[in-house]
Amino acid sequence: MNEATTHDRETVARADAGASASDGGGVARTQDDAPVLFLDSIDRYYRQGEAILEILKGAELAVWPGQSVALVAPSGAGKSTLLHIAGLLEYPDAGEVYIEGVATSTLSDAQRTRLRRTEVGFVYQAHHLLPEFSALENVVLPQMIRGLSRKEAGNRAAELLSYLGLGSRLTHRPSELSGGEQQRVAIARAVANAPRVLLADEPTGNLDPRTSERVFGALTQLVRASGLAMICATHNMDIAARMDRRVTLRDGAVVELE
Ligand SMILES: Nc1ncnc2c1ncn2[C@@H]1O[C@H](COP(=O)(O)OP(=O)(O)O)[C@@H](O)[C@H]1O
Ligand SMILES: [Mg+2]
Repeated sequence: MNEATTHDRETVARADAGASASDGGGVARTQDDAPVLFLDSIDRYYRQGEAILEILKGAELAVWPGQSVALVAPSGAGKSTLLHIAGLLEYPDAGEVYIEGVATSTLSDAQRTRLRRTEVGFVYQAHHLLPEFSALENVVLPQMIRGLSRKEAGNRAAELLSYLGLGSRLTHRPSELSGGEQQRVAIARAVANAPRVLLADEPTGNLDPRTSERVFGALTQLVRASGLAMICATHNMDIAARMDRRVTLRDGAVVELE
């Protein structure tokens, strides 16, 4: 990832943040756009005593910049497994994960870790915010770990949190925020270092329908504005309906819905 690309992306995100929310619809895509994330023929199985549990079998999924994909499948189907493999937290038993065209199986552990830190953001069902730190500090910390000054990191954190509607909650600690607000801070933290891929594992699972709608609205808006590629595992069909694509897992394969 070169500096210019990162900078351009952040500029786009800022420009869009000032404009009104996108009304959805098609994502602009040019001929030479390459997928940000490409899962190529992924197999993943677990040994359970004598039996072999085949969770993913030849799973294929490509996600383009600015595109959000809902992964809707029953509990135990392999959604979290797929997200962990896509995010380089787990190795597949076969197949290749490409991030921005890089075949990740050829990387060393250190290179994988670096790629995951810079290019991948995670949002989980529980927010996992640091309880002793404010909303702002929770979004500042990952940026400082990456080498930004406190001032630069603080500016970006305030900008992101304001974009997500939390401009008046910067100094609140997680316990002083509602569930929806906590989850928006977790989203801001996940994208603080301008990753290319956002992986969300049932991010609104703990929220009531109205709050999830609001959190999800902010999330899709951010994805479109910043050219991120998102896969979001969810059971919420209303939310899935508003994403660019919907896929499910059938016998270990990714199947496009509709
Ligand atoms: N480390 C593991 N060892 C054995 N089985 C596992 C392990 N992790 C997940 N599984 C099994 O793989 C299946 C898919 O799990 P998961 O990806 O968490 O599904 P989902 O997120 O769709 O609910 C489940 O049946 C689960 O029990
Ligand atoms: Mg899961």
